[in-house]
Amino acid sequence: MDFSHVKLILAPLAGIAEPVFRSICRRAGADAVLSEMVSAEGICRGARNTEELLAFEPHERPLGIQLFGARPTSLARAAEYVESHARPDFIDLNSGCPVPKIVRKNGGAALLKDPALFASILSAMTKKVSTPVTVKIRSGWREHEWVDVDCARIAEDCGAAAIIVHARSRSMGFRNHAYWERIALVKEAVRIPVVGNGDVVDGASARAMFEQTGCDAVMIGRAALGNPWVFSRIHSELRGDTPPRVTVDMRRETAARHLRSYRQRYGEKRAAREMKKHIAWYIKGMPGVAGIRRRVFAAQSTFHLEEIIEDYFTRIATATA
Ligand SMILES: Cc1cc2nc3c(=O)[nH]c(=O)nc-3n(C[C@H](O)[C@H](O)[C@H](O)COP(=O)(O)O)c2cc1C
Repeated sequence: MDFSHVKLILAPLAGIAEPVFRSICRRAGADAVLSEMVSAEGICRGARNTEELLAFEPHERPLGIQLFGARPTSLARAAEYVESHARPDFIDLNSGCPVPKIVRKNGGAALLKDPALFASILSAMTKKVSTPVTVKIRSGWREHEWVDVDCARIAEDCGAAAIIVHARSRSMGFRNHAYWERIALVKEAVRIPVVGNGDVVDGASARAMFEQTGCDAVMIGRAALGNPWVFSRIHSELRGDTPPRVTVDMRRETAARHLRSYRQRYGEKRAAREMKKHIAWYIKGMPGVAGIRRRVFAAQSTFHLEEIIEDYFTRIATATA
Protein backbone atom coordinates (compact mmCIF):
# COMPACT_ATOMS: atom_id res chain seq x y z
CA MET A 1 0.00 0.00 0.00
CA ASP A 2 1.24 3.45 -0.88
CA PHE A 3 1.11 5.59 2.25
CA SER A 4 2.33 8.72 0.48
CA HIS A 5 -1.21 10.08 -0.01
CA VAL A 6 -2.49 8.95 3.35
CA LYS A 7 -2.29 11.63 6.04
CA LEU A 8 -5.31 11.02 8.26
CA ILE A 9 -6.49 7.54 9.23
CA LEU A 10 -9.55 6.49 11.21
CA ALA A 11 -8.39 4.35 14.15
CA PRO A 12 -9.68 0.84 14.72
CA LEU A 13 -12.49 1.17 17.26
CA ALA A 14 -14.06 -2.06 18.51
CA GLY A 15 -17.85 -1.91 18.43
CA ILE A 16 -17.77 1.40 16.55
CA ALA A 17 -15.67 1.37 13.36
CA GLU A 18 -17.97 -0.86 11.27
CA PRO A 19 -18.76 -0.18 7.59
CA VAL A 20 -21.42 2.50 8.17
CA PHE A 21 -19.30 4.67 10.47
CA ARG A 22 -16.17 4.04 8.40
CA SER A 23 -18.00 5.15 5.23
CA ILE A 24 -19.14 8.35 6.94
CA CYS A 25 -15.55 9.07 8.02
CA ARG A 26 -14.17 8.36 4.53
CA ARG A 27 -16.73 10.74 3.06
CA ALA A 28 -15.79 13.30 5.69
CA GLY A 29 -12.11 13.22 4.74
CA ALA A 30 -10.40 10.23 6.37
CA ASP A 31 -7.76 9.05 3.85
CA ALA A 32 -7.88 5.45 5.08
CA VAL A 33 -9.78 3.40 7.63
CA LEU A 34 -9.18 0.32 9.74
CA SER A 35 -11.61 -2.37 10.78
CA GLU A 36 -12.16 -3.12 14.41
CA MET A 37 -9.96 -5.97 15.64
CA VAL A 38 -10.89 -9.45 14.47
CA SER A 39 -9.81 -12.64 16.24
CA ALA A 40 -7.34 -14.74 14.25
CA GLU A 41 -8.49 -17.82 16.16
CA GLY A 42 -12.09 -16.96 15.29
CA ILE A 43 -11.21 -16.78 11.60
CA CYS A 44 -9.35 -20.10 11.79
CA ARG A 45 -12.30 -21.92 13.31
CA GLY A 46 -14.83 -20.20 11.04
CA ALA A 47 -16.60 -18.31 13.83
CA ARG A 48 -20.10 -17.13 12.97
CA ASN A 49 -19.41 -13.37 13.15
CA THR A 50 -16.22 -13.48 11.06
CA GLU A 51 -17.78 -12.70 7.69
CA GLU A 52 -19.56 -9.69 9.12
CA LEU A 53 -16.39 -8.35 10.77
CA LEU A 54 -14.43 -8.72 7.52
CA ALA A 55 -17.07 -7.10 5.30
CA PHE A 56 -16.54 -3.67 3.82
CA GLU A 57 -17.77 -1.56 0.90
CA PRO A 58 -15.51 -0.69 -2.07
CA HIS A 59 -15.79 3.05 -1.34
CA GLU A 60 -14.15 2.50 2.07
CA ARG A 61 -10.80 1.75 0.43
CA PRO A 62 -8.00 2.15 1.31
CA LEU A 63 -8.96 -0.09 4.21
CA GLY A 64 -7.02 -2.27 6.61
CA ILE A 65 -8.33 -5.27 8.49
CA GLN A 66 -6.90 -5.63 11.98
CA LEU A 67 -6.20 -9.06 13.45
CA PHE A 68 -5.42 -10.03 17.01
CA GLY A 69 -4.11 -13.24 18.47
CA ALA A 70 -1.01 -14.82 19.96
CA ARG A 71 -0.14 -17.83 17.81
CA PRO A 72 2.03 -17.29 14.73
CA THR A 73 0.40 -20.14 12.81
CA SER A 74 -3.12 -18.84 13.50
CA LEU A 75 -2.24 -15.28 12.55
CA ALA A 76 -0.56 -16.45 9.35
CA ARG A 77 -3.57 -18.60 8.43
CA ALA A 78 -5.98 -15.81 9.31
CA ALA A 79 -3.99 -13.31 7.23
CA GLU A 80 -4.08 -15.72 4.30
CA TYR A 81 -7.84 -16.13 4.66
CA VAL A 82 -8.35 -12.37 4.89
CA GLU A 83 -6.18 -11.78 1.84
CA SER A 84 -8.04 -14.26 -0.32
CA HIS A 85 -11.60 -13.65 0.93
CA ALA A 86 -11.78 -9.98 1.94
CA ARG A 87 -8.91 -8.49 -0.11
CA PRO A 88 -8.21 -5.43 2.03
CA ASP A 89 -5.48 -2.94 1.14
CA PHE A 90 -3.48 -3.88 4.24
CA ILE A 91 -3.64 -6.21 7.20
CA ASP A 92 -2.78 -4.86 10.64
CA LEU A 93 -1.54 -6.78 13.68
CA ASN A 94 -2.97 -5.55 16.98
CA SER A 95 -0.15 -5.28 19.51
CA GLY A 96 -1.72 -2.66 21.71
CA CYS A 97 -5.09 -3.80 22.97
CA PRO A 98 -5.06 -3.44 26.79
CA VAL A 99 -8.25 -5.44 27.48
CA PRO A 100 -7.60 -8.19 30.10
CA LYS A 101 -9.55 -10.84 28.14
CA ILE A 102 -7.13 -10.40 25.23
CA VAL A 103 -3.82 -9.90 27.08
CA ARG A 104 -4.47 -12.91 29.35
CA LYS A 105 -4.23 -15.03 26.22
CA ASN A 106 -0.98 -13.24 25.24
CA GLY A 107 -2.61 -11.18 22.49
CA GLY A 108 -2.85 -7.40 21.99
CA ALA A 109 -0.49 -5.42 24.23
CA ALA A 110 0.91 -8.63 25.77
CA LEU A 111 3.03 -8.98 22.61
CA LEU A 112 4.97 -5.92 23.78
CA LYS A 113 6.38 -8.08 26.59
CA ASP A 114 7.48 -10.88 24.29
CA PRO A 115 9.66 -9.57 21.43
CA ALA A 116 10.41 -13.09 20.18
CA LEU A 117 6.72 -13.92 19.83
CA PHE A 118 6.03 -10.49 18.31
CA ALA A 119 8.73 -11.15 15.71
CA SER A 120 7.64 -14.65 14.92
CA ILE A 121 3.99 -13.57 14.45
CA LEU A 122 4.94 -10.73 12.13
CA SER A 123 7.36 -12.90 10.12
CA ALA A 124 4.76 -15.62 9.78
CA MET A 125 2.22 -13.11 8.52
CA THR A 126 4.49 -11.28 6.06
CA LYS A 127 5.75 -14.58 4.64
CA LYS A 128 2.25 -15.86 4.05
CA VAL A 129 0.63 -12.86 2.29
CA SER A 130 1.60 -10.33 -0.35
CA THR A 131 -0.84 -7.78 1.10
CA PRO A 132 1.12 -5.19 3.13
CA VAL A 133 1.18 -6.03 6.84
CA THR A 134 1.22 -3.16 9.33
CA VAL A 135 1.40 -3.29 13.10
CA LYS A 136 -0.26 -1.10 15.73
CA ILE A 137 1.50 -0.95 19.07
CA ARG A 138 1.29 0.91 22.34
CA SER A 139 4.61 2.42 23.40
CA GLY A 140 5.12 -0.07 26.20
CA TRP A 141 3.54 -2.28 28.82
CA ARG A 142 4.38 0.14 31.66
CA GLU A 143 4.75 3.91 31.58
CA HIS A 144 8.41 4.90 31.04
CA GLU A 145 9.44 1.31 30.28
CA TRP A 146 9.16 1.97 26.58
CA VAL A 147 9.65 -0.76 23.98
CA ASP A 148 8.29 1.07 20.93
CA VAL A 149 11.67 1.67 19.24
CA ASP A 150 12.66 -1.99 19.68
CA CYS A 151 9.26 -3.14 18.38
CA ALA A 152 9.50 -0.82 15.40
CA ARG A 153 12.94 -2.17 14.46
CA ILE A 154 11.70 -5.73 14.80
CA ALA A 155 8.63 -4.88 12.71
CA GLU A 156 10.80 -3.39 9.98
CA ASP A 157 13.14 -6.40 9.99
CA CYS A 158 10.14 -8.74 9.76
CA GLY A 159 8.84 -6.99 6.65
CA ALA A 160 6.10 -4.76 8.10
CA ALA A 161 4.93 -2.05 5.71
CA ALA A 162 4.28 0.55 8.42
CA ILE A 163 4.07 0.94 12.17
CA ILE A 164 1.30 2.71 14.06
CA VAL A 165 2.26 3.98 17.52
CA HIS A 166 -0.30 4.84 20.20
CA ALA A 167 2.17 6.60 22.47
CA ARG A 168 0.81 5.39 25.80
CA SER A 169 1.64 2.30 27.81
CA ARG A 170 -0.80 -0.51 28.40
CA SER A 171 -0.85 0.41 32.11
CA MET A 172 -2.00 3.96 31.29
CA GLY A 173 -5.24 2.94 29.64
CA PHE A 174 -6.41 6.31 28.31
CA ARG A 175 -5.09 8.31 31.27
CA ASN A 176 -2.63 11.14 31.24
CA HIS A 177 -1.37 12.16 27.80
CA ALA A 178 0.25 10.37 24.89
CA TYR A 179 4.06 10.73 24.90
CA TRP A 180 4.51 12.07 21.39
CA GLU A 181 8.29 12.21 21.84
CA ARG A 182 8.14 8.40 21.62
CA ILE A 183 6.71 8.67 18.10
CA ALA A 184 9.60 10.97 17.13
CA LEU A 185 12.10 8.38 18.39
CA VAL A 186 10.38 5.60 16.46
CA LYS A 187 10.43 7.77 13.33
CA GLU A 188 14.19 8.27 13.73
CA ALA A 189 14.76 4.54 14.20
CA VAL A 190 13.07 3.08 11.10
CA ARG A 191 12.63 3.74 7.40
CA ILE A 192 9.10 2.32 7.08
CA PRO A 193 6.22 4.83 7.42
CA VAL A 194 5.31 5.72 11.00
CA VAL A 195 1.73 6.61 11.93
CA GLY A 196 1.36 8.69 15.10
CA ASN A 197 -1.63 8.10 17.37
CA GLY A 198 -2.94 9.48 20.62
CA ASP A 199 -4.80 12.66 21.56
CA VAL A 200 -5.11 14.29 18.14
CA VAL A 201 -8.43 16.15 18.24
CA ASP A 202 -8.23 19.02 15.75
CA GLY A 203 -6.10 20.89 13.22
CA ALA A 204 -3.78 22.39 15.82
CA SER A 205 -3.04 19.06 17.51
CA ALA A 206 -2.64 17.26 14.16
CA ARG A 207 -0.20 19.90 12.95
CA ALA A 208 1.66 19.70 16.27
CA MET A 209 1.93 15.93 16.01
CA PHE A 210 3.31 16.12 12.45
CA GLU A 211 5.78 18.84 13.45
CA GLN A 212 6.91 17.37 16.76
CA THR A 213 7.28 13.77 15.60
CA GLY A 214 7.94 13.87 11.85
CA CYS A 215 5.38 11.07 11.49
CA ASP A 216 4.09 10.19 8.02
CA ALA A 217 0.41 10.08 8.96
CA VAL A 218 -1.81 10.64 11.97
CA MET A 219 -4.45 8.24 13.28
CA ILE A 220 -7.57 9.59 14.97
CA GLY A 221 -9.95 7.62 17.19
CA ARG A 222 -12.02 9.22 19.93
CA ALA A 223 -12.14 12.66 18.32
CA ALA A 224 -14.08 11.21 15.36
CA LEU A 225 -16.96 9.97 17.53
CA GLY A 226 -20.02 12.04 16.62
CA ASN A 227 -17.55 14.28 14.82
CA PRO A 228 -16.50 12.74 11.48
CA TRP A 229 -15.81 16.25 10.13
CA VAL A 230 -12.67 16.26 12.24
CA PHE A 231 -10.93 14.83 9.16
CA SER A 232 -11.97 17.50 6.64
CA ARG A 233 -11.36 20.23 9.20
CA ILE A 234 -7.83 18.98 9.86
CA HIS A 235 -7.12 18.70 6.11
CA SER A 236 -8.22 22.35 5.70
CA GLU A 237 -6.04 23.55 8.55
CA LEU A 238 -3.04 21.61 7.27
CA ARG A 239 -3.50 23.34 3.88
CA GLY A 240 -3.62 26.67 5.69
CA ASP A 241 -7.34 27.23 4.99
CA THR A 242 -10.00 28.11 7.53
CA PRO A 243 -11.73 24.85 8.47
CA PRO A 244 -15.38 24.62 7.38
CA ARG A 245 -17.86 25.27 10.17
CA VAL A 246 -19.86 22.27 11.38
CA THR A 247 -23.44 23.52 11.12
CA VAL A 248 -26.50 22.29 13.01
CA ASP A 249 -27.85 21.01 9.68
CA MET A 250 -24.70 18.97 9.03
CA ARG A 251 -25.06 17.36 12.45
CA ARG A 252 -28.75 16.64 11.95
CA GLU A 253 -28.29 15.21 8.45
CA THR A 254 -25.28 13.08 9.36
CA ALA A 255 -26.85 11.69 12.54
CA ALA A 256 -30.07 10.86 10.64
CA ARG A 257 -28.21 9.29 7.70
CA HIS A 258 -26.02 7.28 10.08
CA LEU A 259 -29.13 5.95 11.81
CA ARG A 260 -30.93 5.05 8.54
CA SER A 261 -27.88 3.35 6.99
CA TYR A 262 -27.21 1.44 10.19
CA ARG A 263 -30.82 0.22 10.35
CA GLN A 264 -30.72 -0.80 6.70
CA ARG A 265 -27.55 -2.82 7.24
CA TYR A 266 -28.21 -4.43 10.62
CA GLY A 267 -31.96 -4.25 11.20
CA GLU A 268 -34.19 -2.40 13.64
CA LYS A 269 -33.32 -4.15 16.89
CA ARG A 270 -29.57 -3.77 16.64
CA ALA A 271 -29.81 -0.22 15.30
CA ALA A 272 -32.07 0.83 18.20
CA ARG A 273 -29.48 -0.53 20.63
CA GLU A 274 -26.20 0.52 19.00
CA MET A 275 -27.14 3.94 17.62
CA LYS A 276 -27.89 5.51 21.01
CA LYS A 277 -24.22 6.07 21.80
CA HIS A 278 -23.60 7.57 18.34
CA ILE A 279 -26.51 9.99 18.69
CA ALA A 280 -25.30 10.99 22.16
CA TRP A 281 -21.90 11.73 20.56
CA TYR A 282 -23.44 13.77 17.72
CA ILE A 283 -25.12 16.09 20.23
CA LYS A 284 -22.25 16.21 22.74
CA GLY A 285 -21.36 19.75 23.77
CA MET A 286 -24.50 21.26 22.23
CA PRO A 287 -26.92 23.34 24.32
CA GLY A 288 -29.49 21.64 26.56
CA VAL A 289 -28.44 18.06 25.84
CA ALA A 290 -28.74 16.53 29.33
CA GLY A 291 -32.49 15.93 28.98
CA ILE A 292 -32.09 14.84 25.36
CA ARG A 293 -29.46 12.28 26.28
CA ARG A 294 -31.90 10.75 28.76
CA ARG A 295 -34.58 10.57 26.05
CA VAL A 296 -32.09 9.01 23.62
CA PHE A 297 -31.10 6.27 26.06
CA ALA A 298 -34.75 5.58 26.96
CA ALA A 299 -35.88 5.36 23.31
CA GLN A 300 -37.47 2.04 22.32
CA SER A 301 -37.06 2.17 18.54
CA THR A 302 -35.07 3.84 15.77
CA PHE A 303 -38.24 5.70 14.76
CA HIS A 304 -38.35 7.19 18.23
CA LEU A 305 -34.64 8.08 17.91
CA GLU A 306 -35.34 9.77 14.57
CA GLU A 307 -38.07 11.84 16.19
CA ILE A 308 -35.77 12.91 19.01
CA ILE A 309 -33.05 13.96 16.54
CA GLU A 310 -35.55 15.89 14.42
CA ASP A 311 -37.16 17.63 17.44
CA TYR A 312 -33.88 18.55 19.05
CA PHE A 313 -32.12 19.89 15.96
CA THR A 314 -35.19 21.84 14.80
CA ARG A 315 -35.35 23.48 18.22
CA ILE A 316 -31.63 24.33 18.15
CA ALA A 317 -31.79 25.60 14.55
CA THR A 318 -34.73 27.88 15.46
CA ALA A 319 -32.98 29.13 18.61
CA THR A 320 -29.73 29.95 16.75
CA ALA A 321 -31.39 31.37 13.57
C1 LIG B 1 -13.99 2.37 22.06
C2 LIG B 1 -12.60 2.11 21.58
C3 LIG B 1 -12.34 0.93 20.88
C4 LIG B 1 -11.03 0.67 20.44
N1 LIG B 1 -10.80 -0.47 19.71
C5 LIG B 1 -9.54 -0.72 19.23
C6 LIG B 1 -9.28 -1.85 18.40
O1 LIG B 1 -10.16 -2.66 18.08
N2 LIG B 1 -7.99 -2.03 17.97
C7 LIG B 1 -6.98 -1.14 18.29
O2 LIG B 1 -5.84 -1.34 17.85
N3 LIG B 1 -7.21 -0.05 19.04
C8 LIG B 1 -8.46 0.18 19.51
N4 LIG B 1 -8.70 1.31 20.24
C9 LIG B 1 -7.61 2.30 20.42
C10 LIG B 1 -7.69 3.35 19.31
O3 LIG B 1 -7.51 2.77 18.05
C11 LIG B 1 -6.62 4.44 19.51
O4 LIG B 1 -5.35 3.84 19.52
C12 LIG B 1 -6.82 5.21 20.82
O5 LIG B 1 -8.18 5.58 20.97
C13 LIG B 1 -5.92 6.46 20.88
O6 LIG B 1 -6.25 7.34 19.84
P1 LIG B 1 -7.15 8.67 20.09
O7 LIG B 1 -6.47 9.48 21.16
O8 LIG B 1 -7.18 9.36 18.76
O9 LIG B 1 -8.51 8.19 20.54
C14 LIG B 1 -9.99 1.58 20.71
C15 LIG B 1 -10.26 2.76 21.41
C16 LIG B 1 -11.55 3.03 21.85
C17 LIG B 1 -11.82 4.33 22.58
